[in-house]
Amino acid sequence: MKILLLGGGAREHAIAWALEKSERVEALDAAPGNPGIARIAPCHDIDPCDPVAVLDLVERVKADHVVVGPEAPLVAGVADALREKGIPVFGPGMSGARLEGSKAFSKQFMDRHGIPTAPFDIVTNMVEAEKALRSRTAPYVVKADGLAAGKGAFLPETLEEALTICSSLLIEGDLGEAGRVVVIEDFLPGTEITILAVTDGRTVRLLPTSQDHKRAFDGDKGPNTGGMGAYCPVPWADESLLDTIFDTILEPTVRGLAAEKIDFCGVIYAGLMIDREKKCRVLEYNVRLGDPEAQVVLAAFPGDWAEVVEACCAGHLDSVAWGQPVDSAVGIVLASGGYPGKYAKGHQVLGIDQAEAIEGVLVFQAGTSMDPKLGLLTSGGRVMTVVGVASTLALAKAKAYEAVSKIGFADAFYRTDISAKAVQSPWPVRP
Ligand code: AMP
Ligand code: GLY
Repeated sequence: MKILLLGGGAREHAIAWALEKSERVEALDAAPGNPGIARIAPCHDIDPCDPVAVLDLVERVKADHVVVGPEAPLVAGVADALREKGIPVFGPGMSGARLEGSKAFSKQFMDRHGIPTAPFDIVTNMVEAEKALRSRTAPYVVKADGLAAGKGAFLPETLEEALTICSSLLIEGDLGEAGRVVVIEDFLPGTEITILAVTDGRTVRLLPTSQDHKRAFDGDKGPNTGGMGAYCPVPWADESLLDTIFDTILEPTVRGLAAEKIDFCGVIYAGLMIDREKKCRVLEYNVRLGDPEAQVVLAAFPGDWAEVVEACCAGHLDSVAWGQPVDSAVGIVLASGGYPGKYAKGHQVLGIDQAEAIEGVLVFQAGTSMDPKLGLLTSGGRVMTVVGVASTLALAKAKAYEAVSKIGFADAFYRTDISAKAVQSPWPVRP
């Protein structure tokens, strides 16, 4: 396979690592990539959301498969443009990407196919918004319909706050077009889990389970971020729970897509809330691997990722042997001081080689840039994900933190409790 990988974060670095170790892969290119990816694949500075630029690059590097990392190119229709030219793409077209690109679409889709999710209302003005809020109790859940880079979901504690948020979205247009339609839904108590699945549109297979840590600071305190760490697999997600998730959520999702004639080849990310009675409901769909979940799930995935990509693109995922993970993985995100708010860039990054010298440690770069004189510098909020892989979660956690201690840059911060709850108690501590 000659693969072009689109994207440039730590998730894409993990995908590049997984593809590169496959014997099936003869050539790997990335766009735009990052300095970490550049160590394993040539990187090309083009806009991955521009179908013309992507098609041109596919021709130049003679790629026979394209793997799309982030959601933006999918929502922009890059996969459709490639498929029109007969190029196999791992990632859905625009219509499938609506599962992530429009919360209103995804809620109505779940409604049509009996997939469990929080009861909801879709509103476009303040009269409807107030009615939907007054029919519920605190805490309220308000979500912008469109893509908002993780800034579109709100959990206000009071009706006044909820109304203010609705007005900022619907009237002031704070999130632009993304907030012109708003979903208001019931609050679901419980514990979250990330279920990643791959599908060729007919067959669906679950990847190892994982859990993200979205808040900036230890103990789930501080602002929401793109994700400060993840671990895999989730010890309490036993076989019976996974059977339920498969039967009531993933299988009906793929059947529903097919029934609506939406071709879907790629990843379905189901963000689920599991309650005390182990009832599973969908909080959100995404149409790509999670970040930072991919960094741990791919590290623990026992199969050949290139084989999965090829089989999904060719429509024979059913022929791929599917194993359970034997390893556990814990990933710690090193972030720039101030993230997710304002932060400085251009700090020198030291110690990655020492961290990677530890057996079972993988470092996936995200917000880094290479300066010809100064070497590796920080260039983003989430700078890298440091992953430890070992036979148990506790060992993987220790390994990941040992590796983190080798790496340094000015004002770096990270959470010290990634996977701690799962390591301490086999059953989740519930709110
Ligand atoms: P979303 O963008 O839909 O995944 O929402 C972001 C985060 O808000 C989720 O990861 C949950 O922590 C929380 N959340 C979203 N919807 C609900 C809900 N209905 N009940 C409780 N928490 C929610
Ligand atoms: N980790 C959350 C996401 O990728 O959307």
